[in-house]
Parts: sequence; C-alpha cells; structure tokens
Amino acid sequence: MPTPAEPSRTVLLLNGPNLDLLGTRDPAQYGTTTLAEVENRVAGLGRELGVEVVCAQSNGEGGMVDRLHAARGWAGVVMNPGAYAHYSIALRDAVDAIEAPVVEVHISNVYAREEFRHTSVTAPVAAGYIAGCGVLGYELALRAVLGRAAERGTLG
Ligand code: DQA
Repeated sequence: MPTPAEPSRTVLLLNGPNLDLLGTRDPAQYGTTTLAEVENRVAGLGRELGVEVVCAQSNGEGGMVDRLHAARGWAGVVMNPGAYAHYSIALRDAVDAIEAPVVEVHISNVYAREEFRHTSVTAPVAAGYIAGCGVLGYELALRAVLGRAAERGTLG
C-alpha cells in the first residue's frame, strides 16, 4: 500500500472476512448495500471532512494485521473485523500496537444474535465501538475516529 501524501489526515477503512459479499450476503442482517457503495459513501464523507479515506478488505487475519501496521501514523482506522472480532488475538494485538485510534463497526446488532457474537476481543483496545446501526455505522465511525484523533492532538 503506497504511503499517503498526508498520513495524519488519512483514515483506513478496513473490512474483514466475508464483507466483500455485502449486498447479497444475508440481507436480513446486513442489508443490500454493497461494499463498493459503503466505501464510496465513507470516502465522500471523508472528502467533506477534509480527510482521505483509503479502503481495504481482507478475508485473512494476516492481511488485516498487515493493513493495520501500514496505517501506523495515520489519523485512524474504521474497522469491521467481521468474525475475527470474536476470537482473533492477533488482530487485537495489532489494534493495540498501532497508536492510531481504531473504531470498531458491526453492521448488525451482534447482541441480538448468537451468543458467540456477544464477545469482542478487539473492542477493549479499540477507541470506540458501534454496532447495530446498519451501514450508517461506518459513517458514524469515521466521525468518531476523527473526534478521537483531534482529542489526542494527532489529526494533521
Ligand atoms: C459483523 C458481525 C460478525 O459477527 C459477523 O461474523 C460478520 C459481520 C457485522 O458487521 O455485523 O461477518 O461484523
């Protein structure tokens, strides 16, 4: 991933496994908006707010960890870890290791679903957590990331 022109004004939008199928995957839980539409909306909001949004999706744990490492020194990260939220200590450690604020997003209300989805190992090290707001949660999370970065004095 190339280094952005202004890392401290760049936000990573990172989606995990199976989120490439948004739009057709289980619409009752995740709606019918595609990942490309989500990315366009968040990038558009980023432009309004004066930041660049770099979008990435990975079906693998290592791919997600690599993307988080590359976002060190950026303004922050909006991340939907998918199922990795529930058990990936590697992802949790990566969130913890980068200084940038990471706001975790879940499209569905995970607390209204199976019990294994009620646990997030990544949330305790995240700067914020949004669940059950549908894809609007990604836009809320971008605003939250920028708020956190501004509080920390790390927004460029
Ligand atoms: C999800 C919730 C997870 O439990 C699930 O494994 C996903 C999507 C959500 O956005 O609601 O893949 O992260």
